[in-house]
Amino acid sequence: MNLVIKRSVARGLNFQRGLATTTAVTPRLKNFKVYRWSPDEPSKKPFLQNFQVDLNECGPMVLDALLKIKNEQDATLTLRRSCREGICGSCAMNIGGRNTLACLCKIDQNESKDLKVYPLPHMYIVKDLVPDLTGFYQQYKSIQPYLQRKSYPEDGKEILQSVEDRKKLDGLYECILCACCSTSCPSYWWNQEQYLGPAVLMQAYRWLIDSRDQAAQTRKTMLQNSMSLYRCHTIMNCTRTCPKGLNPGLAIAEMKKELATD
Ligand code: SF4
Ligand code: SF4
Ligand code: FES
Repeated sequence: MNLVIKRSVARGLNFQRGLATTTAVTPRLKNFKVYRWSPDEPSKKPFLQNFQVDLNECGPMVLDALLKIKNEQDATLTLRRSCREGICGSCAMNIGGRNTLACLCKIDQNESKDLKVYPLPHMYIVKDLVPDLTGFYQQYKSIQPYLQRKSYPEDGKEILQSVEDRKKLDGLYECILCACCSTSCPSYWWNQEQYLGPAVLMQAYRWLIDSRDQAAQTRKTMLQNSMSLYRCHTIMNCTRTCPKGLNPGLAIAEMKKELATD
């Protein structure tokens, strides 16, 4: 019973002698400034568009606010999202100056502060908050992110791995390829054509140290040039921004050690 009354009060309902009457709840309007650009109007420069959202009527995350804007104010606002719980990586964008996932980013409840939302930085834009990730996925493909072997167990059964070797993959395999880290990396901004960037390099390392894989030498040779790996200058923006709490900067440092001992 208590629960029912609490919920009703939150919705602005007053109970008097069993009758419900609505009372006005003061709106908590917060200003969202959202990056807009459309290929349909190529001559129009990108701009920040203001949208006001009543925080009383909105879920707690930035993705909730963006979807509310799209549903109620401007259906042309374009963004990617799928899982809405930090698994698919598609809602990556720059929120309040930081690359993160809109579905995991809580709205600052201070209504007097505007919140700026941009697409991931230094990327070509498809529309509004949607970056073109074609190059990013091509780079991922280039590191051959799959198990490679020359021989298989004679009994035709699974390729075994010790508990210790399996543990080495922790903190690497969880990457959701959201690209928040790569697009926060100054080296990646300026050398995107040749430098692989932290997300892809962390996956290169993940396959390099997998005890079941037998292509280590090929993998190392692919990285032995001045651009693919060694453009990382350990600035660590990547690790600071990762919304999954991973450490691509450390993975890159470990990989440099592996290559140095070759
Ligand atoms: S540590 Fe390397 S990959 Fe990470 S942001 Fe710095 S330069 Fe980029
Ligand atoms: S390391 Fe983190 S920030 Fe980078 S792609 Fe993976 S999950 Fe995203
Ligand atoms: S919607 Fe999937 S990570 Fe945000």
